Amino acid sequence: MKIAIMGFGTVGTGVEEILYKKKESLLKNCFDIEIDRVLIRDKDKKRSPLKSDIVFTDDFDEILNSQVDTVIDVTSSLEETYERIVLLMKAGKNIVTANKAVVSKYFEELNALARENKVYFSYEASVAGAIPVIHPIMEESFFSDMNKIHGILNGTSNYILSKMEVEGSSYADVLKEAQDLGYAEADPTADVGGFDAMRKIRILSSLIYNAKIDEGDIFTFGISNIKKSDFDYAKELGYSIRLIAKSVLSQGKINISVIPTFLKDNFFAKTFDGTNAVKVWGENFSCYEFKGPGAGRLETADAIMRDLLRILSRREINTFYDASNSYEVENNLKSKFYVRTSKVNPGLKELIEEERVLGQDHHIITREINLDELKTVLDDEMFIVEIEGTI
Ligand code: NDP
Ligand code: HSE
Repeated sequence: MKIAIMGFGTVGTGVEEILYKKKESLLKNCFDIEIDRVLIRDKDKKRSPLKSDIVFTDDFDEILNSQVDTVIDVTSSLEETYERIVLLMKAGKNIVTANKAVVSKYFEELNALARENKVYFSYEASVAGAIPVIHPIMEESFFSDMNKIHGILNGTSNYILSKMEVEGSSYADVLKEAQDLGYAEADPTADVGGFDAMRKIRILSSLIYNAKIDEGDIFTFGISNIKKSDFDYAKELGYSIRLIAKSVLSQGKINISVIPTFLKDNFFAKTFDGTNAVKVWGENFSCYEFKGPGAGRLETADAIMRDLLRILSRREINTFYDASNSYEVENNLKSKFYVRTSKVNPGLKELIEEERVLGQDHHIITREINLDELKTVLDDEMFIVEIEGTI
């Protein structure tokens, strides 16, 4: 069977490596997989595939018009890739993708299109890297309502936070390490700004609630302006800092956010380096936990391979997500927050429970408020952290 790959960067080369190195073992299990061609953007870039006769092309039509029935998308483009996936599905080709930007932005359209065209749409690799989380949640949703999900969903941010905390490393140094390890996006703004985790919690939450959630409705705050003094403050109180993405459905409303969080010695606080962690609550069980590599070349390629084999052996789950539920999004759960700022605006002043001034910075603990209230006093210069509260 022939497949095509779109993209030959960190993850794309990982997929080719596994297919090449595991050829015999795959063959033994009746998976005779051949890469028909690979779409790339820059034809002049030097490539070193393990299989020396791989065909590279920058002409998408060659993929669209090829005989392959399954295409792996590991590109880093959003709109162009979305448009191409639409054409591929309409042409009857199954899609396996790691591209969470596309999956999150066009989740409803792509699921509907997959159904209309009777093709598989597989995106296990788009959330939490190597950890199988999408498929268990999909299966669960056939017979069990789930009402809450929490996660560390960005490997780059977790790498930065845990290295700064444990080794006292500088932000710039550890971001560079995360880039060298292949965890970070080409432009790491989405990683450290919380947008990558926002896309992933959107996908997971939409799946478990079968409801569309607009990316813009998700409160998103990243770690890009964290300072050593924030770790010092957290340590003094016995806390670790992790970027937590979470959602809960209660009384017909969804609370959903991505925010740095002070945590004491729990499942998430004990998550280090590029590891991701997910906890989901459902009606037949209290909760279960997933933990494992959340990013990386072979780690992500591993999830792609599982999707590919499920499709090729016709074991993949047909898309069922139809967003038939509709819920309002709000952030009204009470918690205390840590705020670091060099100037206390009048709104913030009203919320202070404790304040300490160190050099230029005010380190503030608020009284119990909710995110919707905090949003009204937030300015660009503040760094905010939720204190355990709703986790
Ligand atoms: P890279 O930047 O390393 O590679 C991207 C590849 O896509 C390159 O080969 C690039 O071509 C190609 N490409 C980008 N845009 C186009 C386009 N419009 N047409 C054709 N080819 C294109 O990214 P990664 O491999 O790290 O990530 C790939 C995807 O997987 C992304 O969507 C990412 O978010 C997702 N992902 C990544 C993970 C990771 O750990 N790295 C984990 C989970 C998901 P060229 O080589 O010519 O520049
Ligand atoms: N840039 C992403 C991360 C890759 O750091 O988690 C995995 O989706």
